[in-house]
Amino acid sequence: MRRYLITSALPYVNGLPHLGHLIGCHLPADVYARYLREQGKTVLFIDGTDEHGTPSEVGAAKEGMELEPYCKKYHDLHAEMYRGFNLSFDYFGRTSSEQNKEMVYRIFKALDQNGLIAEKTTKQVYSPDDNRFLPDSYVIGTCPFCGYERAKGDQCENCTKVLDPVDLIHPRSVLSGSDRIEIRETKHLFLQLPKLEKDLEKWIETKKGIWPDIAYSIAKKWLKEGLKERGITRDLKWGFPVPKEGFENKVFYVWFDAPIGYIGITKQWSDEKPDERNWEDWWLNTDDVYHTEFMGKDNIPYHTISFPATLRGTGEKWTEVSFLKGMNYLNFAGGKFSKSAHRGIFLDDALKEFPADYWRYWLMANAPESDDSNFSFDQFAATINKDLNDVLGNFVNRVLKMTVNNFGSVVPNKGEVTDEERNLYLQMDSLIKSYAEYMDRLEFRKALSVLREIWTSGNNYIAKTEPWKVVKVNKEYAGTILNTALNLIRLYAVLSAPIMPETAQKMLSLFDASLPMLWPTQKAQSELSTIQEGTTFHLIDPLFQKIMPDRITELKIRYKEES
Ligand code: MF3
Ligand code: ZN
Repeated sequence: MRRYLITSALPYVNGLPHLGHLIGCHLPADVYARYLREQGKTVLFIDGTDEHGTPSEVGAAKEGMELEPYCKKYHDLHAEMYRGFNLSFDYFGRTSSEQNKEMVYRIFKALDQNGLIAEKTTKQVYSPDDNRFLPDSYVIGTCPFCGYERAKGDQCENCTKVLDPVDLIHPRSVLSGSDRIEIRETKHLFLQLPKLEKDLEKWIETKKGIWPDIAYSIAKKWLKEGLKERGITRDLKWGFPVPKEGFENKVFYVWFDAPIGYIGITKQWSDEKPDERNWEDWWLNTDDVYHTEFMGKDNIPYHTISFPATLRGTGEKWTEVSFLKGMNYLNFAGGKFSKSAHRGIFLDDALKEFPADYWRYWLMANAPESDDSNFSFDQFAATINKDLNDVLGNFVNRVLKMTVNNFGSVVPNKGEVTDEERNLYLQMDSLIKSYAEYMDRLEFRKALSVLREIWTSGNNYIAKTEPWKVVKVNKEYAGTILNTALNLIRLYAVLSAPIMPETAQKMLSLFDASLPMLWPTQKAQSELSTIQEGTTFHLIDPLFQKIMPDRITELKIRYKEES
């Protein structure tokens, strides 16, 4: 039996996450984890903060804090926000942990022993005005390939080409803005990617047609350009010291230790309960672990090339990525969400405005899968008002009220079924099948549009059978209709749970708080007979609330959405 390892790209600890980060990896990973768990699968869902590197050094300096308390503070804030969105990590760890250090050293030593680490004197950007070496990403300038003017020295986020700061046209320091840039010599360690190229190429070829095109094609593009050796050390203070003679004053590059963080964090998880958990069962010499990685598109090269090369180079059999879900970007009012410019909607604010499920639903229904997508409050409100209020919420509300008015707070008896119910069963069978197929393929937008159809079929069923009329002439059949409709509410709960866990729980516990949240395994006919006749239930407040025009206007102003 397959076991599922799910990892979401580890967010940089500095600053706080916004909706773009949420939909870029954490949320789809959570939906997938919940979906699999509902099916009884064994899942390990790992996430955590990426803490090393210059962004943290700069962030801490800005707040006048030491690195350790700074990282701890932001780690805790990240964790709190993700909890607010009900992200169901098995463990939310840290790349700065002792466990990760142990993994990084172990992997580094294996690479070194295998002759894959080379020492080289390189030229590095030094900024006399900042009084320090500048890491690649802190030099910006014009991309020599595409002309993008704010390309970073490590990678152009416009064309995804990997760069060296010296490639940039008109380079300058991000910190001071100074263009007084010197190139100084310094010694660094390099991972010999060219030696692993053939091997990687063969492996990536096996993913053709299996991984989403964006992941496969970015990896291919890199391989086509030919791999270059890649520096894995830096002249910084904050990071894991390099355990090699002559390098004691340097640290590992953040992109070396961050993906190893998936393993290190798994060890944090297993160290908490060593009797029950074993990180090695997930990462070393496994045959049954299926590893799905979630990330934004800028992360794809690291996860298809450098990290797999790092693991392969050890000669040990580490668990690799089996399926890579790469996401495009979510834009806001025609531009990007931006952490540095504090542009867009951040997670703490989002939760103050609306319940987590509203955001979860909207984001998943509009996930930037095949292309970038755009957030606007108009679209957000339209979706919430229509899909959640008019379709799902209204169905639940009407069915509960009609039942209470005509039968009391009790699930009425189910008598003879008619063609209407038989049609509904057939429809549900095929819709559930297609919903699950899309979820299995991680095609979330399509999955959610089927989920919407599933909800709509309930409304259509009620509209067609008109129980409010039938009850006057044939109370028994009215009971059958409402029994069926109440059972639909339970079915909707279990099908919607990966996306909207809180709402689903409310719907399910209408009838019996101990009903299990289990994915349907039987035909709709049986699934829709799960709630016993005579079960009592209680009325609940409407599941959702509409977002009114003045509220939309107010939100647009508050979050600076220019239209
Ligand atoms: N911190 C990186 C980012 O936010 C992602 C790191 S993914 C990891 O883009 F696997 F390397 F941790
Ligand atoms: Zn470019």
